[in-house]
Amino acid sequence: MSTHERFQIKDLDDLRNKLEETGVDLPLSQDLSVLLKPWSIGSKTVPNRMAIHPMEGCDGEDDGSPSALVYRRYERFAKGGAGLLWVEATAVTQDGRANPRQLCINKQTLDQFKNLAVHIYKNSLPVTCAEVSNSPLKPYTVIQLTHSGRYSRPAGKPAPVIAARNPYLDVEGLEYHIITDDELEQLEDQFTDAAVLAKEAGFDAVDIKACHRYLNSELLSAFTREGNYGGSFENRTRFLLNIVDKIKAKLGDTIDIAVRLNAYDAIPYPYGWGVSREDHHIPDLTEPKKLIKILWEKGVKIVNVTCGNPYYNPHINRPYDIGFYKPMEHPLAGVKRILQTGKELQEAAPEMTVIGTGFSWLREFGAFAAAGAINDGWFSLAGFGRQSFAYPDFPRDIYKQGSMIRSKCCIACGKCSEIMRYGGKTGCVIKDSAVYLPLYNECRQGKPVLVSNHLAEHV
Ligand SMILES: Cc1cc2nc3c(=O)[nH]c(=O)nc-3n(C[C@H](O)[C@H](O)[C@H](O)COP(=O)(O)O)c2cc1C
Repeated sequence: MSTHERFQIKDLDDLRNKLEETGVDLPLSQDLSVLLKPWSIGSKTVPNRMAIHPMEGCDGEDDGSPSALVYRRYERFAKGGAGLLWVEATAVTQDGRANPRQLCINKQTLDQFKNLAVHIYKNSLPVTCAEVSNSPLKPYTVIQLTHSGRYSRPAGKPAPVIAARNPYLDVEGLEYHIITDDELEQLEDQFTDAAVLAKEAGFDAVDIKACHRYLNSELLSAFTREGNYGGSFENRTRFLLNIVDKIKAKLGDTIDIAVRLNAYDAIPYPYGWGVSREDHHIPDLTEPKKLIKILWEKGVKIVNVTCGNPYYNPHINRPYDIGFYKPMEHPLAGVKRILQTGKELQEAAPEMTVIGTGFSWLREFGAFAAAGAINDGWFSLAGFGRQSFAYPDFPRDIYKQGSMIRSKCCIACGKCSEIMRYGGKTGCVIKDSAVYLPLYNECRQGKPVLVSNHLAEHV
């Protein structure tokens, strides 16, 4: 029996039965009206509760400016009707790019980012509930600022910059540069300069990316690092908090600050963040909760909660079921874990706009889980990643017909991530196949099936 058959959900009753069988408890609501209700972030209005997560296409121009494919992606998102669009990982320095086509914001590329923001606003028609449907609304936009740290590949070859050595993640034979405290201080300024440019470009918020084991995320778990940025909680969060302070000092409230934050790395202590010291399979959110409270006090308005490391334990972040190998756990258990971490962080900072991650695997039922979770106060907004590649107009269908259409949904096959790992330009190979199937076939040719080491241990 294929994994596809094993994990398929037929209808809502079937999902309810499977939740019961697997002992997973998720709030579900067939009434989706809450998803169309506006939300306030400070003085700004988000037209509805559906967010497009940052989804990198690895398809920018050599200098880091958006290409035609990037424009196409955001036009699809904008037309789809989501209330909040989170622009993908955008490097603040050339050497911090995760691939030679990653977006990069600087003085030379600024005009292109201005054009991208205009293109988004021009093409958007966010859906919203009847009470506000007469007012002209635009989507709320966030741009994700990043340094790829140990996963930097600015010229297509690994050029890792790390916070500390890590026996689980270090690859034998690779030369690692441990970033110095002085370099980190300079990088704080470079993030701040990028935030200034993001404001000029016209985005509502900048995200200081702190997830998925890129540099800022690695620093949060730098227990073994010496100096000002390692060891204690205060030191490990210093880089992130200094950037928040520096952006606030320079820009005040003229741009909002957001953080895409890992709540749980699933890497053993003392190398993982948000993990139980005894068993890294179990989250311990004491520190992430402490951090989200501090972020709120410092004026950060949005936290988008995520988990895991896409290179080491990819399905902690992206529950998966169709493909070349079996996932290590029932995807519903993974969905529950990631949603639960968001819920706990929202409880720790009730006034923060918290965005939940983990809905795409559920296909059309993701809308029921999103509405149920928002109704029950788990999060403020629901974010969709792979689903937005496959089915960018799902908010419009929810608005028009009160549900998502199954045949348009993401099937959690993992091909969009596979393309990334093969070094190609990515999107949905299945539902946007005219563009991405040829790109998938091209980059896969002659290459072995990719299975992460961590997963291979479990299958
Ligand atoms: C192809 C691809 C690109 C991604 N790019 C980013 C990114 O630029 N920044 C980020 O924080 N997460 C990125 N992610 C992670 C997603 O935002 C999201 O957390 C993940 O897909 C899980 O959500 P989902 O179940 O809705 O897909 C990416 C994921 C995929 C598959």
